[in-house]
Amino acid sequence: MSCAIMCPGLLTVLLTVFLLPSSVPEPLKYKDCGSQSGKLVTLDVSPCPEEPCPLVRGSTYTVNATFVSNVNSKSASAVVHGIIAGIAVPFPISEPDGCKSGISCPINSGQTYTYVTKLPIKSEYPCIKLVVKWQLQDENNKDLFCWLIPVHIAAV
Ligand SMILES: *[C@@H]1O[C@H](CO)[C@@H](O)[C@H](O)[C@H]1NC(C)=O
Repeated sequence: MSCAIMCPGLLTVLLTVFLLPSSVPEPLKYKDCGSQSGKLVTLDVSPCPEEPCPLVRGSTYTVNATFVSNVNSKSASAVVHGIIAGIAVPFPISEPDGCKSGISCPINSGQTYTYVTKLPIKSEYPCIKLVVKWQLQDENNKDLFCWLIPVHIAAV
């Protein structure tokens, strides 16, 4: 096959891959707020078609965090805050028990765990920008992970 036939096709592929990355999922940008009892490996909040993630009222999102534990712990408890204008406001979630969110407890030091939970966005939430702070704490209330992502609550 001659280059005259092959090259335009190749160029189209390259242009599609490098200039139109919208269809290629990119890893979510997050800030690791530090942890003593573990290390966050990957974080995914979906769907999040653009960043900051638009969280549409009435929709439910999936949070998936993979971490390695440095400790043995019988329990894992999620603590979630919305940081609004610098003030951390408790954000209740329906299932704060990490042991019921994909983690088989007890947690063993050195092992990798995947925490998966749902984040429902109630229709009465105000349409504001905030930073979600999500901690998962061990039996001594020390963080197994802690992460921050900016979001905005959006109307349907
Ligand atoms: C969570 O993320 C991990 C690592 O990316 C992946 O292997 C796993 O399939 C995901 N689980 C769910 C329920 O999305």
